[in-house]
Amino acid sequence: MTIAFILNGEDVVIRTEADTRLLDILRETFSLRGTKCGCLTGSCGVCSVIFNGKVSPACLIPAFQIRGSEIITIEGFSQTNEYPDIIGGFTQAGVETCGYCDGGKILATEALLERNLQPSREDILGAFNGIRCRCTEPAILVEGVLAAIDIRRRRLYGRA
Ligand code: FES
Ligand code: FES
Repeated sequence: MTIAFILNGEDVVIRTEADTRLLDILRETFSLRGTKCGCLTGSCGVCSVIFNGKVSPACLIPAFQIRGSEIITIEGFSQTNEYPDIIGGFTQAGVETCGYCDGGKILATEALLERNLQPSREDILGAFNGIRCRCTEPAILVEGVLAAIDIRRRRLYGRA
């Protein structure tokens, strides 16, 4: 089947089987290897992308569902003005970025900040429900997100 969608802000068209995973399309057709391949069952979050505004595991999205959708991968997000806010916060708090789940953690943070710049600790931990990070303690992750929020607010409003 032929499928048109928006990938990292660009209109793209591909030919693929209806049940091909979005994960494989990103990695194989577009060479976007920042979307990692892990459990393939939707439980580790290393394949996360922003799919129509929501953080979603690309391993669970079949090709037929992406027609007309808007998808942002970590490669696309890393080109935005928002990306340095999150990297700055993570660095400040000592959040690990070993290369495996980074994309998932960063996109989950952005999805949270897009809707809530005053999250509680529970809101923050809830935003990472679908991400299994072996390297960072939850408390450090919370600190990283709060630091990213401070940076975002200063950039947007001139104060934390
Ligand atoms: S590879 Fe998709 S959630 Fe683990
Ligand atoms: S930073 Fe290593 S698995 Fe998350």
